[in-house]
Amino acid sequence: MQTHEIRRRFLDHFISAGHTEVASASLILHDPNLLFVNAGMVQFVPYFLGQQTPPFATATSVQKCVRTLDIENVGHTTRHNTFFQMAGNFSFGDYFKRGAIELAWSLLTKSLDEGGYGFDPERLWVTVYLDDDEAIQIWKDVAGLPDERIQRRGMADNYWSMGIPGPCGPCSEIYYDRGPAYGKDGGPEADEDRYIEIWNLVFMQNERGLGRGKDDFEILGPLPKQNIDTGMGVERVAFLLQGVDNVYETDLVRPVITKAEELTGRQYGSKHEDDVRFRVIADHARTAAMLIADGVNPGNEGRGYILRRLLRRIVRSARLLGADKPVVGEFMSVVRDEMSPSYPELATDFDRIQTVAVGEETAFLKTLTSGSKLFEEAADEVKASGKSVIPGSEAFTLHDTYGFPIDLTLEMAEEAGLTVDEAGFRELMAEQRKRAKEDAQARKHAHADLSVYKELVDRGPTEFTGFDELDTEATVLAIISGGVRQPVAEAGTDVEVILDRSPLYAESGGQIADRGSLSGSGLKAKVNDVQKIAKKLWVHKVTIEQGQLLEGDTVTAHVDPAWRKGATQGHSGTHMVHAALRQVLGPNAVQAGSMNKPGYLRFDFNWQGGLSEAQRDEIERVSNEAVGEDFAVNTFVTDLPSAKKMGAMALFGENYGDEVRVVEIGGPFSMELCGGTHVGSSAQIGPITLLGESAVGSGVRRVEAYVGLDSYKHLAKERALLAGIASSLKVPSDQVPGRVEQIVTRLKAAEKEVERLKAQAVLSSAGSLANGATTAGRFRVVAAKVPGVSANDLRTLAGDIKGRLGSEPAVVALFGDVDDKVPFLVVVNAGGQDAGARAGDLVKSFAPKIGGRGGGKADSAQGAGTDAAGIPAAIADVTAALSGL
Ligand code: SER
Repeated sequence: MQTHEIRRRFLDHFISAGHTEVASASLILHDPNLLFVNAGMVQFVPYFLGQQTPPFATATSVQKCVRTLDIENVGHTTRHNTFFQMAGNFSFGDYFKRGAIELAWSLLTKSLDEGGYGFDPERLWVTVYLDDDEAIQIWKDVAGLPDERIQRRGMADNYWSMGIPGPCGPCSEIYYDRGPAYGKDGGPEADEDRYIEIWNLVFMQNERGLGRGKDDFEILGPLPKQNIDTGMGVERVAFLLQGVDNVYETDLVRPVITKAEELTGRQYGSKHEDDVRFRVIADHARTAAMLIADGVNPGNEGRGYILRRLLRRIVRSARLLGADKPVVGEFMSVVRDEMSPSYPELATDFDRIQTVAVGEETAFLKTLTSGSKLFEEAADEVKASGKSVIPGSEAFTLHDTYGFPIDLTLEMAEEAGLTVDEAGFRELMAEQRKRAKEDAQARKHAHADLSVYKELVDRGPTEFTGFDELDTEATVLAIISGGVRQPVAEAGTDVEVILDRSPLYAESGGQIADRGSLSGSGLKAKVNDVQKIAKKLWVHKVTIEQGQLLEGDTVTAHVDPAWRKGATQGHSGTHMVHAALRQVLGPNAVQAGSMNKPGYLRFDFNWQGGLSEAQRDEIERVSNEAVGEDFAVNTFVTDLPSAKKMGAMALFGENYGDEVRVVEIGGPFSMELCGGTHVGSSAQIGPITLLGESAVGSGVRRVEAYVGLDSYKHLAKERALLAGIASSLKVPSDQVPGRVEQIVTRLKAAEKEVERLKAQAVLSSAGSLANGATTAGRFRVVAAKVPGVSANDLRTLAGDIKGRLGSEPAVVALFGDVDDKVPFLVVVNAGGQDAGARAGDLVKSFAPKIGGRGGGKADSAQGAGTDAAGIPAAIADVTAALSGL
């Protein structure tokens, strides 16, 4: 049965049992604790916790999931996919254990003709949480399972949570027995490779607190309702129903292996190590495409790092399989063909996906070359010193700086007849991991500190009044200082203030927070910043300037009107630049981040390579023309699917069921989902001046701009600069460029002439230098500093001096001094060589004194250093060496 069919049957089964079909959420949701969405229930967390009322009592979905904890296992086992699809059914206080078990059992065991999967009931096993006798009884009633095929397991296996605070509960898992050929008897407890887990039914009934791992956390108490969350592994069911050996050979994944066979000329199934590489490519190519589709870009941390690692593993594996050309683009096409029937974004966004993936491959192929060079140097050095082990530190640098996985280094070492100090390497890796862990720990503590806000968050969201007014009367709900609530704040202190309502915009969506003040009887306080906690609680960071602030006080919160006016210009200006950018560059210029405040904005977007001056000018022109059109700015609230249908640019991470606010400026010109504050019509933004464009990471560019009065001020400053230059040059402004060009040309010619005259003067000094020759032992010696002479002229000069010294043993050592470099040269005439002087030896001995290196033959040797201060010591060295001969 094909994967698309497995998905379809799942959804149909639950839809006909009254469930609402819900689309998969993006792989990226705005939760700093969760790298990627890793289960079907993630988008429903607020419903389980009772924070939001679900629009349906039961739902079903097939959710895109990414889990990368076991990335090293990929390709080695039968069932580790970094990307997989979790089919699930959910009940929000509707049916509970019996309903979930009945629905799962019937889909699994119904015949193919009846729309089921047709699994043999005799081969299904289940596990339940230790004391869940109720579930055991239901399994017996519903499925007629005998005692020996129901196993009780502990918290680590049968108590499910997301690994972070949130809903949790005991669970019951369903396993399929592949038969004795695949492992020992004894059920899932004995062998999870023979008994494959296919479905997890979670009886979601408690709330989990902080803690660690799967079984070391606090249970805070029951959820408002008893819920169901289930997850069936679509790839696992596919692998069992398709009669293949593992998840990599299922219908949607295997075509990538076939493409890899084509590109590398090797056959899947002939050699174990090669097979692992084929499977790594197949798994990772799919995950990479899905991640890029959802807005992830390769980078050095967090999500971006995971994507980078996946793409590099593909490139490396393909090379180890013998590919010598770029391959990633081809794999992306195969993934699109297989997966786009379920995930159309892979087809509609394909150009961007392709550009990002291939860009990363190109970058890695570059470091692969420089890394290989570094490896060769290290190998040569090891061999030259008569050893055979490449130090762990080199392997670590290759890994850390050049992205070389250790097994690539090992393989290359083997080819060179060397080994690698793996223990040393692992030690350095462990140190690095320890640092990373300490980092993560620190972040967790920051999260723990948020507990003071919890009861306030539970009380409900802060009401934002700032779209309609700038002054709002509000009640002080809490005063917090150093993470602790306090009843009162005195003048001169900095505290955080939570109000029931506020007109001040809290930083979000790239717009920084409003500045303003609080006032009340005798109270004057300045608001320096406003941040949101849990997306809904406004935390005002406040300095009390006069009087006292008490919990329960009534105060008036004011937005500084000048600030707000600037902020609206900054934010609307950002939308203008975004729209102009897409008009000029096309839809691949996808937003990657932004920041705006009064007078200034910056906008990051996905793009390979820099923008041309013409493109920049065009973006600026289009933005300013849109300002000039004086488009009306309309804002309205709707649901996500309607907003998308209207063509609003949806940012990644919006959730199904979310109400979204659309900001529309000039009809189709700009339509974005946005919660920010905006001008009333586009002319109010004022002029937009692009400041420049730069790179902020691999494949991400940034434009910056001034808006409004700041834009004018910037231009006025530039005009004053130009006027200043014009007056110094004594020409009108419009003649400045021609005049500057003239001056530069003349200056260059004059510099050349100075150089020529200098060299002439030095060369003509050969006579006086020869006359100043000293004696050292049996030698006539000229050793001198000749500033301003290039390495070439040194040779001419030295030859001239040598000729003037005649045939008695003579040595000439000259030191230049140009542009912070010290070229030097030693020549020895025939008599000098007979007397035992060797130019090469002399140079080698004094070179370190001037911070350089050099060498050569007996008659002539040269080199260069960087430290002119060492020249007298070098000259002394030459004289001493010759005296001793
Ligand atoms: N949330 C559970 C899991 O991920 C069931 O959907 O296994």
